[in-house]
Amino acid sequence: MRRRVFLSAINGASSSGGVDSPPSLPSQRRPQGGMVKRGIEPTSVERKMREDDFIVSKTNAKGIITYGNPIFIEFSGYTEEELLGSQHNIIRHPDMPRAAFKLAWDTIASGKEFFGYVKNMAKDGSFYWVFTHITPDFDSRRNILGYSSVRRCPRPGAIAKIEPVYRQMLAAERAAGSREAIAAGTAVLLDLLQQTGMSYEELVFSL
Ligand SMILES: Cc1cc2nc3c(=O)[nH]c(=O)nc-3n(C[C@H](O)[C@H](O)[C@H](O)COP(=O)(O)O)c2cc1C
Repeated sequence: MRRRVFLSAINGASSSGGVDSPPSLPSQRRPQGGMVKRGIEPTSVERKMREDDFIVSKTNAKGIITYGNPIFIEFSGYTEEELLGSQHNIIRHPDMPRAAFKLAWDTIASGKEFFGYVKNMAKDGSFYWVFTHITPDFDSRRNILGYSSVRRCPRPGAIAKIEPVYRQMLAAERAAGSREAIAAGTAVLLDLLQQTGMSYEELVFSL
């Protein structure tokens, strides 16, 4: 049952409508407002979240940042002014596979909550891992107004397990080329789930 929910999320259930149509990957979600991330070299410097940190952000339905708490501002390395009005991919790390975000968007745009591990990149190129929970914000008619995300300090053991999965997904995406990238990355994840017999959420919470 859970598995079927996962598969339908991956297979693009969002395009069937019923909610505000989510922005498609990737061209419609280029940075639009605020700061545009260009030419940032990722470094090997890691920033670690503290146990009691919560990184919070909110976006409109297209993923444009409308709110960031002080810890979000601190970890991202951008000013509040630079963040507000920018696409949330302003902190995207190039080590993250596109299929991971496709799954996240399909899940939240269909009205469900999403959990996952994400490697983010700060303005100075340093990186920080988070365990994220993204939820849709609804109006009284269950139309999606936007999204909220709360991120916590990930368990260190979890990163050691998810990192090789993302690396494999990314390699498959690069080998497949731009057009087939998401399908190729998704196939790697699906293979893994099939091998383990777990749904995506079960996998995430098993780490
Ligand atoms: C509420 C919310 C929070 C998000 N948080 C992150 C995040 O922390 N890091 C990230 O890279 N993408 C995050 N995203 C996804 C981005 O919008 C985007 O899909 C992703 O960075 C991939 O960018 P790309 O499509 O330009 O490759 C978030 C989206 C929403 C709606």
